[in-house]
This record gives sequence, structure tokens and C-alpha cells, in this order.
Amino acid sequence: MNIVCIGSGYVGSVTGTAFAVLGHQTTVIDMDQKKVDLICSGKSPIYEPGLNELIEMHIGKTLRATTSYEVVYDADVVFIGVGTPSREDGTADLSFIRSAAKSIAQNLNPHKFTVIIDKSTVPIGTADLVASIIDDMSGLKAEEHFAVISNPEFLREGYALEDVFFPDRIVIGTTNEKARAVLRELYHNLLNRVGYDEATRHFKFSFNPQARPAVYFETDLKSAEMIKYASNAFLAVKISYINEVARLCETLGANVLDVSKGMGLDSRIGSKFLQVSSGWSGSCFPKDTAEFLATSQKYGRELSIVKAAIESNELMHDFCVEKVQMRLKTLIGKNIGVLGLTFKPNTDDARQTQASAIIRKLLDMGANVKVHDPKGMDVFQSLNGGLAVSYCEHADEVAFNSDAVILLTHWDDYLHINWSLMATMMRSPYILDTRNFLPRTSLEELGFTYEGLGIGN
Ligand code: UGA
Repeated sequence: MNIVCIGSGYVGSVTGTAFAVLGHQTTVIDMDQKKVDLICSGKSPIYEPGLNELIEMHIGKTLRATTSYEVVYDADVVFIGVGTPSREDGTADLSFIRSAAKSIAQNLNPHKFTVIIDKSTVPIGTADLVASIIDDMSGLKAEEHFAVISNPEFLREGYALEDVFFPDRIVIGTTNEKARAVLRELYHNLLNRVGYDEATRHFKFSFNPQARPAVYFETDLKSAEMIKYASNAFLAVKISYINEVARLCETLGANVLDVSKGMGLDSRIGSKFLQVSSGWSGSCFPKDTAEFLATSQKYGRELSIVKAAIESNELMHDFCVEKVQMRLKTLIGKNIGVLGLTFKPNTDDARQTQASAIIRKLLDMGANVKVHDPKGMDVFQSLNGGLAVSYCEHADEVAFNSDAVILLTHWDDYLHINWSLMATMMRSPYILDTRNFLPRTSLEELGFTYEGLGIGN
């Protein structure tokens, strides 16, 4: 099939590359010439493990990139994968979506049926909005010449290729039978694992996840749009819940690691997304919970559980800062080292991270802060320009003369720091491990005072 992906961010570049790998002729459109040049030279515009290799393998063959919308004319399927940033009031800013819709309208082929797919996370009702923009501008009839459908993306950053090639589910939101037929053909290769080598478990690339069957689920447009928000908000609620349980564990002398393990053994609950942290963050959960809550309030059906999860998440950031403050008595004049600025490991994404909230609080309370991240330092610095912190090239530098080190992101790299050297460099070797990730006993043997989260015994 002939596919166009608009946007070369996380959603667009991963989706475009994946369909190129599956054998479809795919073109990624981005208005940023630099990103297009990167893709054309065989490089990924984002940091995502494995993506560079796949782009390099397929560029000039099944994968292309351009700034021009002319390729829409020949497309069978057009994915919209542009950004939908949050506005001040929590609602999503749809200007990139509107502008993509207009450019599609100007280039749509009147002689063929084109399926336009909302792949980005967009407010419920956006597909109808896109259809009306295209309808108005092109004079072509929605449902007859084209259909706008929802096919939400569920990929996690850092694991995007695993999620795209081996998804739990593919959700298709449309009642248009012609569009449904196109989508079944589009996903045929993926569902039937064409090009998939059972012996090596490779999709012709060097990645080896556990194969599991995907469920192909067809529903109506609005339900598909709702599934995306309801899923992300549910996961955020789940994390906020275990984080609150962790706080109670500390007070009552229980161990949240065992509590979440014991809970997760119930298949109705499941063990995933029960890992304690300093709070969920990143480019999806904060934005999506805010938009979902704002929509529910707009229609007089406030999602009070989502509201509580957002508030609880902010309390979790405060809780971490308070723990350090209690340990050091005061934060005024104290030197604090922070390990991890990205919202999770294996990504350079430092948008809306818990690190930014926690570091701001530490600075407000009078601490001096040194920071390190293996991949996200540049992004974090560009987004938090005025923040008075020292950026350290090597992780162990955050320990120099420090009163506390806080681990925020569980990068594997941090398992391999010279912790013995860190202990000798610190003014008082205290570590708060907000991911319960580091080897506690070894650190204590090196003289560290170790604290995790939710471990009250
Ligand atoms: C999330 C969803 O997991 C994806 O399914 C979805 O497609 C994506 O948003 C999106 O809407 O585009 P992502 O934001 O990449 O994916 O990251 P997650 O792995 O879900 O983590 C989100 C946050 O929750 C991170 O801060 C992470 O550290 C935190 N988290 C996650 C926990 O604190 N505990 C956990 O057990 C799991």
C-alpha cells in the first residue's frame, strides 16, 4: 500500500518506519527540513532504541521523507502523527492537527478513496473535526471520497518498536466499511506476521521480543478515541494508587515491593504499572490526564478519580523532597545530586518530567543542585533554561561534596557507577532511590544510608 505519515516525532517516525519494514511504500512528511534531511540520510530524528538501524535499512527503498504534501495525492492511507501540546487550561492545542487537515485537503485525490487516520492522541471528536475541515476545503465528501478514522497509538517511548511490532491490541475506530477493509489489508502483514521469522523471532531486524498475539478490535470512532484516553488515565491512576500505598507502607512498616508483587499475582490486577516512583510524568500522561479531565468537566461528568490521581501525583513529588529534607533537617545550603532527568530510561525525552518539578522544589527550599542524565541532559536544559543547576558530564560528579543523591530515573548505567568512589566523595553518603532500583545491601556495605520509597521495614 501507499502510506503517508504526517509528523516525524515519536508517533510519526515510529509508525512510518514500521510500515516501511512491513513492506508498504511509506513517506514521512515533516515541515522541519532538518528532520527530513536526517531521515533521508538514514538517521532517526528521535532517540529510540533500534529505530536508527531500521531507518538506515529501509531509507530509499520502502521509506522516504519529504517536506511536501504532494505525496498525499497517491496515498491509500494518511496517518496524522503531529503533536497536540497542552494549553494552560489542560485542553489540547489542535493547531498542528488543523494545519495537517488543511494540507491534506489541498492534495487529496478526487479519483480514489483515501483513509485518513488520527494516530496522535487527540480529543474525542477530533476525527469529525478533521473530516469537516477536509470536506469544506476540498469539496470532497467525507465517507464517500475519504474517511477520517481513529487508530490510536499505544507505544511506550523506549520500547516503541516492541509495542509497534508486537502490540497487545490494534484499535480501529470507524463504521465505514470501505475504510475497515483498507485497514484490515494495512495490518494484514502485522497480524499474520508476514516477513516474520519464527526461528529467530525477528521481523527482519535485530529485535527479539516475546511473540504474543495481537487483538484486532473494530469499534466506532468516538469509542476508539475514548479508549486511548481512558487507557492512559487508567494507567496513571494505577501508578498514583501504588504510590499512595507506598506512602502508607512507610508509615505502617510494610514493604511496597512485596505488596505490589502480592497484588500483581492476581490476574485481575496484573503486575504491570505497579512500580513505585517519584510520580508519573513525560509527554503523555500529564497531557492526556489533563485533557481527559477537562473534557469530563466541560460536559458535567467530572472524572473525580482522574482528578485525584493528578493531585496525588503532585504530592508524590513533594513527598520525595520532604524525605530528603527530613533526613538532612534542612535543605538550605545543602548540596544535592540528582541522577536522571528523563521521565523514564531509554529515552532522551525530558518533557514534563518529575525531575523538573522536584528540582524546582529543592532549589526553592535553598538547596544547590547538580544533575546528570545519560541521554536527556540537552533536552532538559533546553526546556528548563533558567534553572540554576550544574550539569555534570559524568554521573559520579553529582556526588562531589554532596549531602544527598536522589535517583529519579532507573537507567541501567546507574547500576554501574563507581558507588564506592561516590561514597567517599560525598559529604554525607545518603541516597534516596525513588525507583527502589539500586542494590541496597551493597550500597549499605559501602557506607551509604539508603532509603527507597514505600519500604517501611
Ligand atoms: C504511555 C503509555 O504507556 C503508552 O501505552 C501510550 O501509547 C503513551 O503513553 C502515549 O500516550 O503515547 P510512555 O509515556 O512512553 O507511554 O511511558 P510509560 O512507560 O507509560 O511511563 C509513563 C510514566 O509512568 C513514566 O514517568 C514512568 O516512569 C511512570 N511509571 C510507569 C511508574 O512510575 N510506574 C510504573 O509502574 C510504570
